[in-house]
Amino acid sequence: MHRERIRLPSLMSKIMSAADAASLIKDGMTVGMSGFTRAGEAKAVPQALAERAKTVPLKISLMTGASLGNDLDKQLTEAGVLSRRMPFQVDSTLRKAINDGTVMFIDQHLSDTVEQLRNRQIKAVDIAVIECVAITEEGHLVLSTSVGNSASFAILAQHVIIEINLAQPLELEGLHDIYIPTYRPTRLPIPVLKTDTRIGSQAVKIDPAKIVGIVISNQPDSPSSVLPADTDTQAIAGHLVEFFKNEVRLNRLTNQLMPLQAGVGTIANAVMTGLIDSPFHGMTMYSEVLQDSTFDLFEAGKLDFASGCSMTLSERKHAAVYDNLEQYRSRLLLRPQEISNHPEVVRRLGIIGINTALEFDLYGNVNSTHVGGTRMMNGIGGSGDFARNAHLAIFVTKSIAKSGAISSVVPMVSHVDHTEHDVDILVTEIGLADLRGLAPRERARVIIDNCVHPAYREALNDYFRRACAIGGHTPHVLRDALSWHLNLEETGHMLAI
Ligand code: COA
Repeated sequence: MHRERIRLPSLMSKIMSAADAASLIKDGMTVGMSGFTRAGEAKAVPQALAERAKTVPLKISLMTGASLGNDLDKQLTEAGVLSRRMPFQVDSTLRKAINDGTVMFIDQHLSDTVEQLRNRQIKAVDIAVIECVAITEEGHLVLSTSVGNSASFAILAQHVIIEINLAQPLELEGLHDIYIPTYRPTRLPIPVLKTDTRIGSQAVKIDPAKIVGIVISNQPDSPSSVLPADTDTQAIAGHLVEFFKNEVRLNRLTNQLMPLQAGVGTIANAVMTGLIDSPFHGMTMYSEVLQDSTFDLFEAGKLDFASGCSMTLSERKHAAVYDNLEQYRSRLLLRPQEISNHPEVVRRLGIIGINTALEFDLYGNVNSTHVGGTRMMNGIGGSGDFARNAHLAIFVTKSIAKSGAISSVVPMVSHVDHTEHDVDILVTEIGLADLRGLAPRERARVIIDNCVHPAYREALNDYFRRACAIGGHTPHVLRDALSWHLNLEETGHMLAI
């Protein structure tokens, strides 16, 4: 069994227990682990690390691709292992530690992390822990359900620990396209000319002498936690479909649209699912995470090809996809996240980027990360990589949150992730605001008329009137600009009612 997965015989002697592998990770080290949106994370070694921290002092800086499954961020936080964490997370225990200031969190554009590592702008990775389905005859790494930052972590780290996960099917081999950009300033163009262009190798090329331990694990990825579509997310999808149809009528898009990117979470997944009931076909995706909706679109015959850097599926979808991987082999590619999210490629292919906002303001600035302006939710993820460079940068959100105590459209956002310059289209269940070619005062009108919940519309109109009376290119009543957030903090409702 192991010989099928570890094909370089000399590496057999490196097989060890997770506890022994964890003991190679020392206090103060920077560790790069595989894992992206609950897919393909190293599992046994971080669990053993959390266990080990109960008996020895152990604090590390942990880098991953994005979020981890199997409650690993929770376990590592509770064990006090994390001193620094980057570049993304979605765990409520870690979120609390970040907001308490006990874990230093670096919230980064996901295409940036390995670029900074490669250029020695941040502390080097001492040891990488990478989940694989196999190691080739050359000692190269065949990754599992995510590529994320794993390839560069393994290439740049001094030492590498491999987890061979028997629960991940060997049929994943061949789905990966590993391409590492050359060094600046003499870098060559990244030759992705279409969503399905293969530009790299199927395995990560490293010197096998760097492999200091191999752990055999047998634990599946956690299922994704996205919720099914509801009437609001269906309405958001409906507005988008109408908008795309109109773009086709105006000859600005064809029925194939442009390559689609969709963000993490329930809303973006539901919006993509909404494209099943649309006239569009022959679509492609050039995205970061491939969620259930990607495979629903494949099954509906709407999608021809999907390129991503991880696959995160619900329990419902998991068996259907993994039992039929052969059927997807020619229609899927998993790339490193710096390639799936690369500004050069996003701009070249003309991506339609659909990401989710926590809140946006009158002028189209978007906050995707900070609740109440201060408390980290998850992180910016790849949304900025895509939005700034997209053919169409679309942000979606429900118009209200927490049973109406919060309006997602506010006078001024309490934190900015995507500036008005990077945002083309805003959509709530109420309607869609097309901001292209509009000046700030025009944007405000379109946003209030189309996106705001009726319970907040008059209050926002009143704010805008008072702001315009004061004047300015982007009018504001500075004394009141964040008053809705203050009201929420003080009374539990943005309008203090
Ligand atoms: N203020 C406070 N809380 C808000 C809010 C606001 N303006 N808007 C939404 N929320 C809360 C919701 O009530 C919900 O809370 P709950 O978990 O307690 O129920 C939570 O935020 C998640 O919102 P939900 O409506 O379920 O949407 P989602 O699952 O699609 O997540 C984001 C939305 C913004 C948190 C998520 O998309 C995200 O982290 N985005 C940033 C990263 C990103 O875009 N990556 C994409 C690149 S691939």
